[in-house]
Amino acid sequence: MDKIAVYPGTFDPLTNGHLSLIRRGLMIFDRIILGIACDTPKKTLFSLEERVELAKKVFCNEPRVVVEPFKGLLIKYAKQKKAIAILRGLRAVSDFEYEFQLALMNRRLNADIQTVFLMTDYKWLYISSTIIKEVAKLGGEISGLVPLEVEVALKEKYGST
Ligand code: COA
Repeated sequence: MDKIAVYPGTFDPLTNGHLSLIRRGLMIFDRIILGIACDTPKKTLFSLEERVELAKKVFCNEPRVVVEPFKGLLIKYAKQKKAIAILRGLRAVSDFEYEFQLALMNRRLNADIQTVFLMTDYKWLYISSTIIKEVAKLGGEISGLVPLEVEVALKEKYGST
């Protein structure tokens, strides 16, 4: 049976850090479902539809990555998708506390689905979707930090094409 993992997040927008994590996740899992959260407390720049569409474009040549929006509890979604794991990235120690909390709560809700953490590649240690948006908004160079499709979309949003 295929080993499936759900990689959940807001992905507003997807960065090369996320891509690197997915590439490495594909060495462990047969299939990764990129679950884009509908319910997020974050005020997003891209609408849910835009985030899904962008991610689908980025992974259009990777049949092992499925992009989907999800609603409600992550752990229920993962079970419904027959995932054996939730994939998350750790960048710095500062990520740890929040990730630990999420992982423990998810384990309490369903102990059959494991949370698997991969360390972010050192090249992406300092990036987050927020910092990318801030730099793009102020006209800074973001090429090489995000997929091309995202770079174009950010430039369109901020009117710097
Ligand atoms: N490289 C670069 N950046 C990375 C990264 C990596 N490898 N991994 C994470 N990040 C960044 C993201 O860009 C994001 O940046 P931002 O805060 O500037 O937007 C930040 O780290 C973490 O965000 P993200 O990975 O998108 O996760 P999230 O914290 O927004 O998502 C959910 C959290 C969606 C997983 C969580 O809210 C959830 O499970 N929601 C569903 C409801 C639920 O089940 N709740 C109960 C949970 S116990």
